[in-house]
Amino acid sequence: MQRRAEELRRSLDYHNYRYYILDDPEIPDADYDRLLEELKGLEAGHPELITPDSPTQRVGAAPVTSFPTVEHLLPMLSLDNAFQESEVADFDRRVRERLELQGAVDYAVEPKLDGLAVSLRYWDGRLVLGATRGDGHRGEDITANLRTVPAIPLVLRGEGWPRLLEVRGEVYIPKADFEALNARLREAGEKTFANPRNAAAGSLRQLDPRIAAQRPLTIFCYGVGAVEGGQALGYHSQILARLKDWGLRVCPQRQRVTGVAGCLDYYRWILARRQQLPYEIDGVVYKVDRLDWQRELGSVSRAPRWAVAHKFPAQEESTRVLAIGVQVGRTGALTPVARLEPVSVGGVTVTNATLHNADEVARKDVREGDRVIVRRAGDVIPEVVRVVPEPGRQRADPFVLPQRCPVCGSEVVRPAGEAVARCVGGLFCPAQRKEAIRHFASRRAMDIEGLGVRLIDQLVEREMVETPADLYDSARINLESLAGLERMACKSAENLLVALEKSKSTTLARFLYALGIREVGESTARALAEHFGTLEALLAADRQALERVPDVGPVVASQVEAFFQEPHNRRVIEALRKAGVHWSQSAWGSPRHRPLAGRSFVLTGTLESLTRDRAKARLQALGARVTGSVTKKTDYLVAGREAGAKLDRARELGVAVLDEVELLRLLKE
Ligand code: IVH
Repeated sequence: MQRRAEELRRSLDYHNYRYYILDDPEIPDADYDRLLEELKGLEAGHPELITPDSPTQRVGAAPVTSFPTVEHLLPMLSLDNAFQESEVADFDRRVRERLELQGAVDYAVEPKLDGLAVSLRYWDGRLVLGATRGDGHRGEDITANLRTVPAIPLVLRGEGWPRLLEVRGEVYIPKADFEALNARLREAGEKTFANPRNAAAGSLRQLDPRIAAQRPLTIFCYGVGAVEGGQALGYHSQILARLKDWGLRVCPQRQRVTGVAGCLDYYRWILARRQQLPYEIDGVVYKVDRLDWQRELGSVSRAPRWAVAHKFPAQEESTRVLAIGVQVGRTGALTPVARLEPVSVGGVTVTNATLHNADEVARKDVREGDRVIVRRAGDVIPEVVRVVPEPGRQRADPFVLPQRCPVCGSEVVRPAGEAVARCVGGLFCPAQRKEAIRHFASRRAMDIEGLGVRLIDQLVEREMVETPADLYDSARINLESLAGLERMACKSAENLLVALEKSKSTTLARFLYALGIREVGESTARALAEHFGTLEALLAADRQALERVPDVGPVVASQVEAFFQEPHNRRVIEALRKAGVHWSQSAWGSPRHRPLAGRSFVLTGTLESLTRDRAKARLQALGARVTGSVTKKTDYLVAGREAGAKLDRARELGVAVLDEVELLRLLKE
């Protein structure tokens, strides 16, 4: 068992390194998760097997009330800034004069990341301390938080590392992850972060490491502090290469260039790619590559003489708000957008900037006609940062979100506690139509084979389909009209018509799910179908009646009610039934025949005669609950071929295990 735990740990460390450091994973995420689950299972059963460096031990440290102060073994310096090319030339001249050199100097150059500087201390290859920069001499001990960053190795890889190694780097959140994080916070009605830097800093200063663990933090290492032992190196660029060998993440865009011309070429090269880089930067850094020259140059006050930061021009500009419009997204979310007097921000002309949601507009108090600061945070959507006060100017009235959807006129609903207001037009609203139809046709909904995204785009753009009911309208969708579409052969048109016909025979649960009512996923749709039995009963239900359905709370109930109250939606439902969409009353397992009610199942491994989805559906039809992980509450584990960690876990917990033959027998009985 101990051997297996060690093996798993080695394997997990290796795949972590491939994924986070080399950006070149060897196995799919699911396989990684399986290995991790297996190790967790082993350690849960045998806590004596847990080691402090186990990949399972990154999270879980207890919250603290404050961070102790720690001393850096060597100070963490800052950098002098250059904004003009002439200032870079001055820097290079000073370097050559001090070193009394005639020829050009080689520089190690990298992007200047906009994150939070940290120092990582490794003793004998083990991470023992992680600290913020602080005042450069003393920082805060944030080891527990830094241990949760998957790109920071708890143990160094390879060999030849010094006995003591202080690694210096910048912790940051990649742009895409930042957007997703803010969207998540916004949805949850929580405060968003102004930029990735604040998000990274805020996450690392969390007193509870479990919160830091949920933040998508990563790191680029750009240098070293104190080093004891190990092989002496001659160049900064060699240090970075070594750090990479030891499993530390270094910036792939780093280079070695010659002289001031090389530096400026690099600056232009990076500036031109700035938008495409997955991380936020605010300039580039030039460092004299030869370490003996660095030592000779030394530092003044808190910045080295051998390095300089060449900063990019500001990405914020001021302009005037011409109007505040409202955009409706594919999920019906209403987003206020400032229409701006065109302004160039960091080389790109900006005419629109997002205001995110009504709360944000109110918080920033942005009104039509205001002068505002806009920021292009390196990514695609520019945003309004704040209003520039103009004392004495008469301002417009505060912005209010429309109560009706500007695209389709349906009601706009903002559930209590949510920041996002949505159009309930659903199937009817053109802004949401493509998405609504894609969902309607999807496998777990009406399962219309051959109706893919490209085809839906064409059908909606040519106004052949406005609501899902139009799919079944032979005046709109027929062999002739389909033949006029791109990439549509006669045979595929025929097949599509057959698939459409076939989809008409469905179940109430699938039908409800297909309608795309917000908050109504598959299991809620099933619960509604089972509880009410008929569509008519559901349509007649008021909020109280809806809340009596298991798992339906006030939020879901209000969404369902609003959806069915909208006359457009009622019309679409009627048209669908008229077109022949039908279901039998007992298709999802009538309340009378639910022999597996109250039993919980987990499926794992490969089944031969049916897919896991199919097995799940059949079990559920008999009333069973099917979940993803094995716990003490699981009644049966169905183990197919190559079942792994879940099977071990089930055995450990004494959960009954069924093979495929036993499962089939159970389904038949
Ligand atoms: S080198 C002695 N390289 O910029 C040189 N710093 O303004 C120490 N920074 O505190 C820094 N990216 O947090 C270096 N590629 C990079 C950097 C970088 C970002 C930060 C670092 C430092 C600050 C100085």
